[in-house]
Amino acid sequence: MKQIGDRFFKPYIVRKQIEERIEALGQEISADYEGKEIALISVLKGAFMFTADLVRSIRVPVDIHFIQLSSYSAEQSTGKVTEVIGLNGLLAGKQVLIVEDIIDTGLTISVLHKKILQENPADIKIASLLLKEDVYSGSLKIDYLGFAIPNRFVVGYGLDLNELGRNWPEIYQVNN
Ligand code: IMP
Repeated sequence: MKQIGDRFFKPYIVRKQIEERIEALGQEISADYEGKEIALISVLKGAFMFTADLVRSIRVPVDIHFIQLSSYSAEQSTGKVTEVIGLNGLLAGKQVLIVEDIIDTGLTISVLHKKILQENPADIKIASLLLKEDVYSGSLKIDYLGFAIPNRFVVGYGLDLNELGRNWPEIYQVNN
């Protein structure tokens, strides 16, 4: 059992399961992209650990980019504006693979997909370690999925609770 503040977490997806699933994903990706080069876009901070392991299982050339989303409320506007930091206009004509840690409602990935589309890549595919499948209401296909999980809060292996827990080597689930 692990603790952050007053919340307790129990082991959920252990190291061996993560390793085996990522190796399988790497093989699938390598086969699908054979003869091509991947422009891989890792979404910070959560996807850093998944990315580090996934790229080691990919056997085709990979150009690795890191981006971060920042969302803020614009002064004159009621809605939230999401800014993507780190997109550099170098994706035109590229085979883009977005790498996410977790997809919940799908809002984040949908905003990101739209922004990347504006850079005119040849293709965009999505890899996510986790998907809360009962909550996901997006229309985008998740091309490479690690694990479909129920709607419970998870921490570890890059995922955080208030910025803590990202360094835990396995995935933990809230214990209540
Ligand atoms: P979405 O936009 O609703 O798909 O939410 C995706 C984002 O919410 C992820 O990139 C995470 O930052 C965060 N998130 C959603 N569920 C969890 C969770 O169980 N643990 C940690 N972060 C989560």
